[in-house]
Amino acid sequence: MTALFEQFSLKDVTLRNRIAVPPMCQYSAEDGFTNQWHEANYQSFARGGAGLVIVEATAVSPEGRITPNCLGIWKDEHVSGLKNIAERIKSQGAVAGIQIAHAGRKASANRPWEGDDHIQPSEENGWQPIGPSAEAFGAHLPVTPTEMTKADIERVKADFVKGAERALEAGYEWLELHFAHGYLAQSFFSKHANKRTDEYGGDAQGRGRFLLETLSAVREVWPENLPLTVRFGVIEYDGDDEQTLSESIELIKQFKEIGADFVSVSVGFNTPNANIPWGPAFLAPIAKRVRDEAGIPVATAWGVDTPELANDTVEKQQLDVVMVGRMHLTNPHWTYFAAKKLGVEKPSWVMPAPYAHWLERYA
Ligand code: FNR
Repeated sequence: MTALFEQFSLKDVTLRNRIAVPPMCQYSAEDGFTNQWHEANYQSFARGGAGLVIVEATAVSPEGRITPNCLGIWKDEHVSGLKNIAERIKSQGAVAGIQIAHAGRKASANRPWEGDDHIQPSEENGWQPIGPSAEAFGAHLPVTPTEMTKADIERVKADFVKGAERALEAGYEWLELHFAHGYLAQSFFSKHANKRTDEYGGDAQGRGRFLLETLSAVREVWPENLPLTVRFGVIEYDGDDEQTLSESIELIKQFKEIGADFVSVSVGFNTPNANIPWGPAFLAPIAKRVRDEAGIPVATAWGVDTPELANDTVEKQQLDVVMVGRMHLTNPHWTYFAAKKLGVEKPSWVMPAPYAHWLERYA
């Protein structure tokens, strides 16, 4: 059996193979609501055969959106649209996941194709970002966030909890907390962003506190039988990498103790002054280290984008699940393509019969 096409079970959920579509923002919502674009987008990934489709960063509060056009899960009215998306994913045999998020100091930005830069709080459509400290990210995101008070911290944790409850109500079976990419939770853990002198800053334990408390609060409402997962940037490529990585692994051990089932290993993106060694599957050895040292199943994305490479990472037990992002934008049926490339028996049948039959007969 080809490793990439083996099932993967976590809690009561079984993925039909090891291929996942990672969260990819579409920046196409109004007031956080899904529309026909999201329906078509997510259904096509699921139809293509992936085992898991994770809905994009979905904001737990309006201020937690990256752009004014990000999806939202901050009000009950959002549930029915998100439920529709989950049903579309599940109807095609994939597991429906969702990433819930708060953008922190990177919030209030223009869409990537409209500049990708901060919208000033004074501008129409803009708002004041918040963060662990009044430290701007810099570069294209120069707005200085307001330092969060303890009341702000409690409010955002409660927003994550409400978001998790709504995700469950909408039928998602795989919850991913966005603790990566320099957004709010990740920035709490970062020495670049977090200069606090209270118990939410300082050493790694202090900087990890917001993440641990948020995870723990969500654990209370997310069912034990469904995967509760975290996407976490474990390295910055800022010259301090061994320390960040070992502190991150220690924190992941605590995530596991308080109930995280799985980690999607990523980059911190807390500073524009990073020197990231982009390349095929460059994070896979780092993910393996997390997997081995923290004893938790892992995935990673970032250039794991040929079927052979994806299969290799699973075969070598670097990854349990492979996140294939942009390749799904080029070909939503990437899983079929991978099945053919890897010589899987009857590859077209990773897709539904109305496609599979004809591809088997004529392709
Ligand atoms: C992303 N990425 C991303 N990551 C995340 O955690 N939440 C998100 O909502 C998004 N949004 C997003 C949108 C788009 C259009 C892209 C291309 C990427 C990062 C994504 O999940 C993934 O890590 C990268 O695309 C790298 O994987 P690939 O594309 O090399 O397989």
